[in-house]
Amino acid sequence: MKKLLKIAVICGGPSSEHEVSLNSAKMVLKKLDRKRYAPTLVVIQKDKKWKLGPSKSIDIGAALAKLQLFDFAFIAMHGVFGEDGRMQALLEWIGIPYSGSGVLSSAMAMDKGISNKIYQELGMNVPAYKIISKYPRSSDHRFKVPAVVKPVDGGSSVGVSIVKSTKELQKVVKDALRKNDRVMVQQFMQGREFTCGVLEKKGMAFALPPTEIIPRSSKFFDYKAKYRVGGSLEITPAKLSPSMTKKIQAMALEAHRALGCRGMSRSDFILNGSTFSILETNTIPGMTETSLLPQAARAKGFSFPAMLDLIIEAGLKRK
Ligand SMILES: Nc1ncnc2c1ncn2[C@@H]1O[C@H](COP(=O)(O)OP(=O)(O)O)[C@@H](O)[C@H]1O
Ligand SMILES: [Mg+2]
Repeated sequence: MKKLLKIAVICGGPSSEHEVSLNSAKMVLKKLDRKRYAPTLVVIQKDKKWKLGPSKSIDIGAALAKLQLFDFAFIAMHGVFGEDGRMQALLEWIGIPYSGSGVLSSAMAMDKGISNKIYQELGMNVPAYKIISKYPRSSDHRFKVPAVVKPVDGGSSVGVSIVKSTKELQKVVKDALRKNDRVMVQQFMQGREFTCGVLEKKGMAFALPPTEIIPRSSKFFDYKAKYRVGGSLEITPAKLSPSMTKKIQAMALEAHRALGCRGMSRSDFILNGSTFSILETNTIPGMTETSLLPQAARAKGFSFPAMLDLIIEAGLKRK
């Protein structure tokens, strides 16, 4: 009998997406092919203690020693500490292959200031933006309204607000700087919203069918619209002409390559007139049953377990 690959499915952590991460991990655990893998759930609590399987919680030093007994780590974490290169660096130190992008790519994609610079370098449309920082303190907080204010390294729309007046902008930026060291203020783009996933097979990246997102419960794709049942309507494949489909897929692939992503990514876009503006690239997209990447993979003929096989295969390939 073939030896099963021992996989640690790591989730949780101190980010604002802790709960989403637990849901992603539970789904990954449920869908991993038991003929190939022997998975264990590893939960990092908000207090940063680790819980491997049913054992009691331990500190990070002891946890890393135990983690070394695994063949592979599937990182089902979103946001800071899990998706931004820090977890990836820990796994590199202990020599365990892992899912998704490497340290630098993860960090670059998580930082909307850096990733926007890269998109611009590629000639992609990005909404006009400005980064306002606490240290060193930015002196000029002015920006044209309507605008979107968001943490530079956030996710799941946590802390994202749309502001319509200059007075509101000043207040929202001030509040945001209390919780975040750096905040992005970005031109509000009116238009349809889309997202487009990328996976890899045998070392080749390919784009999945794009999804159109129509928020139902909120004005934009905020946390509620993302995670509440019926919070938004998601149409995969999106109703776009073949040429527009090609355009968004090419942009998602280009962003994936330019950021040096591995295994998977999912980029968000707004369609304004006939141009797509790119908002961001997620290196660890949501993995719940209703999440966008698994939906798009299914539309391309990859079941959830088959999608996980591809992600693991890509992670094992990385040297
Ligand atoms: N410039 C913008 N114009 C219009 N809507 C935006 C803009 N930026 C963000 N949004 C809305 O906010 C959501 C979250 O923003 P995004 O940049 O994708 O950050 P997150 O990492 O939190 O997902 C988007 O899905 C979109 O609905
Ligand atoms: Mg997003």
